[in-house]
Amino acid sequence: MHADPAVIVIFGASGDLTRRKLIPALYEMFVRGLLPDNARILGTARRDKTDAQWREELLPWIKDHAIGFEDDSWSRFAEMVHYHACDATRQSSYPTLEARINELDSQHDCRGNVLFFLSVAPALYQPIIDCIGNAGLVTEGRRWCSLDRDSRSWQRVIVEKPFGNDQKSAESLNRVLGRVFEEEAIYRIDHYLGKEVVQGILAFRFANTIFEPVWNHTYVHSVQITAAESVGVEDRVGFYDQTGAIRDMIQSHLFQILAFVAMEAPTIYSPESIRSEKIKVIDAIRIPEDDSLDAYGALGQYAADSDGTSGYHDLEDVDPDRSTETYAALAFFVDNWRWTGTPFFLRSGKRLKQKLTEVVIQFRPPAANIFRTLPGFQQGQQLVPNRIVMEIAPRESIRVRFECKEPGLGFDLDTIEMDSDFKRRFASEPIEAYGPLIIDAMRGDQTLFKHRAEVEGAWKAVMPFLDERSRQLRDGITANYPPGSWGPTTSDDLLARYGAVWHNQNASEGDAR
Ligand code: BG6
Repeated sequence: MHADPAVIVIFGASGDLTRRKLIPALYEMFVRGLLPDNARILGTARRDKTDAQWREELLPWIKDHAIGFEDDSWSRFAEMVHYHACDATRQSSYPTLEARINELDSQHDCRGNVLFFLSVAPALYQPIIDCIGNAGLVTEGRRWCSLDRDSRSWQRVIVEKPFGNDQKSAESLNRVLGRVFEEEAIYRIDHYLGKEVVQGILAFRFANTIFEPVWNHTYVHSVQITAAESVGVEDRVGFYDQTGAIRDMIQSHLFQILAFVAMEAPTIYSPESIRSEKIKVIDAIRIPEDDSLDAYGALGQYAADSDGTSGYHDLEDVDPDRSTETYAALAFFVDNWRWTGTPFFLRSGKRLKQKLTEVVIQFRPPAANIFRTLPGFQQGQQLVPNRIVMEIAPRESIRVRFECKEPGLGFDLDTIEMDSDFKRRFASEPIEAYGPLIIDAMRGDQTLFKHRAEVEGAWKAVMPFLDERSRQLRDGITANYPPGSWGPTTSDDLLARYGAVWHNQNASEGDAR
């Protein structure tokens, strides 16, 4: 299905996300022929500038961040890029904004379709959505009951994370959106759902026979979902100190991965079916008792580096009383028939040893060791359990670890890993995740976007680690892990409680079991 033509209105045209991700991603889609010729991109921000000036500003970002830059395709793409200066939080800005949208629409035959992209500070979401509503820019009405859906133009909105700051504010934002847009016109974006291996989880589980029968608490000892970054908070202290790793990464990206790993098989690959399974599994996540929180979490903040780089606590604008976590490891349990008793460890942190995003399915060891009496084995020795590692970044791969007989006389076992490296197998470069997601929104496909209930459910599950109840967990987190490490030792203790060890990519096999 092709993307419909549309005017894509980006609120926050001068922002980092727009320059670094959105425009390069749209350019990549254009180069691949996925962006319709009669689509138009209209950036808005307060500063006055012409279309030509904005295009010039964007050029170096596209050169640096998009795959396959070419002068010729850039000049054709640049013609699709426009700019309109306005303060989008003021109702008085909307008559001229509307006129500009209509002008582009009629010049380029965008069929009255408008895709709004909120790429602004979250505090501006509500005023902008209210203004869009009051300006009468949303005319689509109740599309699900219209007689001839395809003949109607549409208006949709893509909302960036952070989606709220806690459960209450997320619920309130959902109400604000719901007053203006139908749920089926709201696209809550999570760029992790645009990542190849994240979508690959669905193929791995539901396009094969051999994995799904063991994908449950009887066979799976524990699941680890890691999003480690080697960078610090850099120039985002203002945002990050109010946010922290749980809000920034766990509530959003890692919960989406958890949902794909843990959900039941959807009836069919459709937005309704997939999203309803995700909602169910998120709903089944246990909310820990207030007095047992430290059995479920470990938090940390990176210390200063030996080369003199400041630790998090010493950065300008960090509020020392907030104890914002730059590292979090949380254990979740999914209390349903499939997963009861299997912990899901979610961890994310800044200034860790390396950039690594992965899912580890750690199986239980075989029920009995029939080799136990052979030379080289010790009494009571367990066999090495199977493990599946789905690496999302930096490499894209799925690896399956299993035991085999080492060739030669006698009977010795050795551990081998089957490794499917996507780049080698498919000769493909990872593409910027935003591109395909924006195209999906232009096709009206919500499969890889979050439903209201998923977002609210994920907030509900992390709230104990964010509100007053987390105070004890936050005590003493200042500088509790050195940069370049795998986080605070309390996070190793957390896993040890459940008989598990973090799978750290460069660790020796023995450490990583
Ligand atoms: C963003 C977070 O959502 O994801 C950032 O706000 C983080 O703090 C980024 O660095 C990580 O994304 P990726 O695609 O590089 O893993």
